[in-house]
Amino acid sequence: MKKIGILTGGADCPGLNSVIRAVVRKAMKEGYVVTGIKNGWNGLIENDMRVLDLRVTSGILDRGGTILGTSKSVATLSLAQINQAVENYNRSGMDAIIAVGGENTLRIGYDLYVNNGVNIVGVPKSIDNALSGTDYAFGFDTAVNVATECIDRLHTTAESHHRIIVIEVMGRYTGWIAIEAGIAGGANYILVPEVPVDIDELCESVKERHKRGKMFSLIVVSEGTIVEGYNAPLEKSIVGSNIRSRKVGELIANLIEEKTGYETRVSVLGHIQRGGTPTAYDRIISTRFGVKAVELVKEGKFGMMVSLLNNKIRYIEIKDAIKKRKAVDKELFKIVDVFSDQ
Ligand code: F6P
Repeated sequence: MKKIGILTGGADCPGLNSVIRAVVRKAMKEGYVVTGIKNGWNGLIENDMRVLDLRVTSGILDRGGTILGTSKSVATLSLAQINQAVENYNRSGMDAIIAVGGENTLRIGYDLYVNNGVNIVGVPKSIDNALSGTDYAFGFDTAVNVATECIDRLHTTAESHHRIIVIEVMGRYTGWIAIEAGIAGGANYILVPEVPVDIDELCESVKERHKRGKMFSLIVVSEGTIVEGYNAPLEKSIVGSNIRSRKVGELIANLIEEKTGYETRVSVLGHIQRGGTPTAYDRIISTRFGVKAVELVKEGKFGMMVSLLNNKIRYIEIKDAIKKRKAVDKELFKIVDVFSDQ
């Protein structure tokens, strides 16, 4: 019997279960059995796997998170981990593994493919939308919608109280969520990691708005934004290897209050952006990705990642997706400029 493995690695996001469901349905139609590998690459190393069939994957299309569990991936595995993973892969009888993840998950998969003969097909997920070689990584649309709804809610309270509200959204290295949710929510200022912030310039602009009678401002900021002259806002978390935000929203809010004298509040949206049910768009894209991933396995196109290019499902080499992060589209900055500080 032909066998496909599937794992979900790195940060979770809405749409993971839709991919799992799509892979199982398509694979069964093609005569494969599907093995679910638990908790990302850890499951392969620890031989923690289970069979996925129609029953297990029924009713999960709209469920957030991942029924397989995940683990935040490190960029590389140790030699002992690699050996264990390869041994378990060979023993399992799997023809290939579909690795659903972001940069680190895909990097490990690609290394296992190139150096150890593990057949890998990648599927891009990331609420940050920062993978290259694909116009879109699923999970992003849901995150943008959640953040937009929060901005709408904060808008009304900011206006009523004549306050500045700083809204910190996710995005350690790129500002995709900030810029898209900021545009959709009508933010007055959008601050992203791609462009360091001049805090004095920002405060002057906020004061100008006040002079024009706009007594409130909504400022959306990505967690990885750098404020010129102040400490870098990222640090390693104490537990685990992840880099996390050092409260850039709070830093900016404090500086604004101090420099303008206007009452300022901060709202950190955090993991709310990653949880819950996927939007219709994320369900559709993840379903299309899952079906294509099985087709690539069937055709023996390993070392490849499914991708969305000009609204068509294509595939590219995994190495091209992970070599460089996809920064925010310059066109979007032009849009932001039109509305900024008005
Ligand atoms: O990579 C996805 C992401 O949600 C980032 O936007 C965020 O910086 C990070 O993960 C948060 O990671 P953790 O769940 O470890 O706090």
